[in-house]
Amino acid sequence: MKSIPHPIQYQGSKRNLASVILQYVPKDVNCLIEPFSGSAAISIAVAARQMAKSYLINDLNKPLAELLRLIVEFPIETASFYEAVWNEQHSNSIEHYYRVREDFNRTQDPRLFLYLLARCVKGSVRYNSDGMFNQSPDKRRYGTQPKTMRANIFGVSALLKKKTEFLSLDYRDILVKAKTTDLVYMDPPYQGVCGERDSRYFSGIYHGDFVSALEELNSREIPYIVSYDGRRGDKTFGELLPASLDLTRVELEAGRSSQATLLGRDEVTYESLYLSYALTNKLTHKPTDYRLPKPQQYALFEPAAHYV
Ligand SMILES: C[S@@+](CC[C@H](N)C(=O)[O-])C[C@H]1O[C@@H](n2cnc3c(N)ncnc32)[C@H](O)[C@@H]1O
Repeated sequence: MKSIPHPIQYQGSKRNLASVILQYVPKDVNCLIEPFSGSAAISIAVAARQMAKSYLINDLNKPLAELLRLIVEFPIETASFYEAVWNEQHSNSIEHYYRVREDFNRTQDPRLFLYLLARCVKGSVRYNSDGMFNQSPDKRRYGTQPKTMRANIFGVSALLKKKTEFLSLDYRDILVKAKTTDLVYMDPPYQGVCGERDSRYFSGIYHGDFVSALEELNSREIPYIVSYDGRRGDKTFGELLPASLDLTRVELEAGRSSQATLLGRDEVTYESLYLSYALTNKLTHKPTDYRLPKPQQYALFEPAAHYV
């Protein structure tokens, strides 16, 4: 398969885990719904494998959702705009970045956001308490070359054009739209150690509200997948989802911490993936059969009863 296009550099993107997550996507999904789409890595990967008829991409961060819409619906204009902004940076790249950042915070123009995401430190967004984007530029790089960006934009547009609705609402307003023939993939903001607000994203969510929303999806028999907590070595991060939700929990190997490797420690990060009962019912194999063969064993199946 050709490599999957990714125009948006986004912290927490699931692009590296997409092929593993896609193993839990059933056949014949009517609409793939991503209420916390971020860079829409999962929608793009599902579209590349033609596993759903249509897509609903939503993120509360309006410029981000709007940027995805422009990439899909107006690829030529979006790529040209990026190229023009990128080419302006050469006289003084750092000063140029701060000027674009100021313009973006004033206008919320999503096309400026594309440049900032490509050019900022590790592609990771940061907001101050007033909701202003305040990440610094990466001083060692100039951001994705316009030619590469153009190819990525055109690739994503070809995959999602005329099949995708873009919204910027709270996730609960999206969940009410889901039907039993759809699949909802949810990757909410990281549950940090410092409460519900996370400067890395536009907004946080409350664990209790989220659990209630999942209960409601269960009562409507909506198939869904949630990326939620994780662990590194013995240290877990984020609250687990309760057993009462009747979910199947799978652990995905998400990588090795470079710091731990330097210190000679063997610390692999695992991310939990939860599958709803309505989803596992649709899968042709039971989840235990979804383990990948060694040596690339990403998924370790654990029945829900064992983790609480
Ligand atoms: C972990 S990121 C998703 C990353 C995504 N899976 C990807 O591959 O790029 C979580 C996203 O949720 C969005 N978000 C935060 N609160 C939200 C809410 N209440 N409703 C909808 N989206 C929200 C954030 O703006 C952020 O983009």
